[in-house]
Amino acid sequence: MIEVKLKDLGELSDRFNLQMPKGMFLCTRDKERDNVMTIGWGFIGVMWGKPVLNVVVRPTRYTHELLSNSDVFIVGVPKADEMKEALQICGTVSGRDRDKFELARLKKGEGRSVNAPVVEGCETQYECKILYRQAMDPTFLNKEIDKRHYPKKDYHVFYIGEIIDCY
Ligand SMILES: Cc1cc2nc3c(=O)[nH]c(=O)nc-3n(C[C@H](O)[C@H](O)[C@H](O)COP(=O)(O)O)c2cc1C
Repeated sequence: MIEVKLKDLGELSDRFNLQMPKGMFLCTRDKERDNVMTIGWGFIGVMWGKPVLNVVVRPTRYTHELLSNSDVFIVGVPKADEMKEALQICGTVSGRDRDKFELARLKKGEGRSVNAPVVEGCETQYECKILYRQAMDPTFLNKEIDKRHYPKKDYHVFYIGEIIDCY
């Protein structure tokens, strides 16, 4: 395992931010189940003196169920404009109903530093250990954002993961 240094954060976050609007893969595992879903929101930064990656997952997602039983996740950044169809499938179908690795013809691999699957062939993998998780409290939310993004009141859960490996 290569230690991820704070000085590398600029490069890591540049790559991440360039791809984020197009979608990336969030891979999760609990004891016996694996899943992959598309994410479009999140950020990389510094917290507690560590490089961290924050993802947000609505409680209705199967991914949320798996994360409830796990302390790690892996974010895979596809090469620009590749894997578009797979991102579409993983962002619309639930792992509750289908094995999305199979359905989207993604090659499933193993994380090298944490116990979770990876989408092979991605340009960058961010392997993360969850340091903090918190459900959004709508009391503190801007009213316009609330109205626009949460008509069903399915507020995101924030997961701050320390980037412990990146390649
Ligand atoms: C481009 C794109 C970005 C998305 N970003 C997120 C996100 O950041 N958080 C989230 O909870 N859902 C997001 N979704 C929706 C989930 O990917 C979608 O509901 C998925 O089917 C959930 O899969 P699961 O039930 O297997 O976890 C996104 C969907 C797309 C197409």
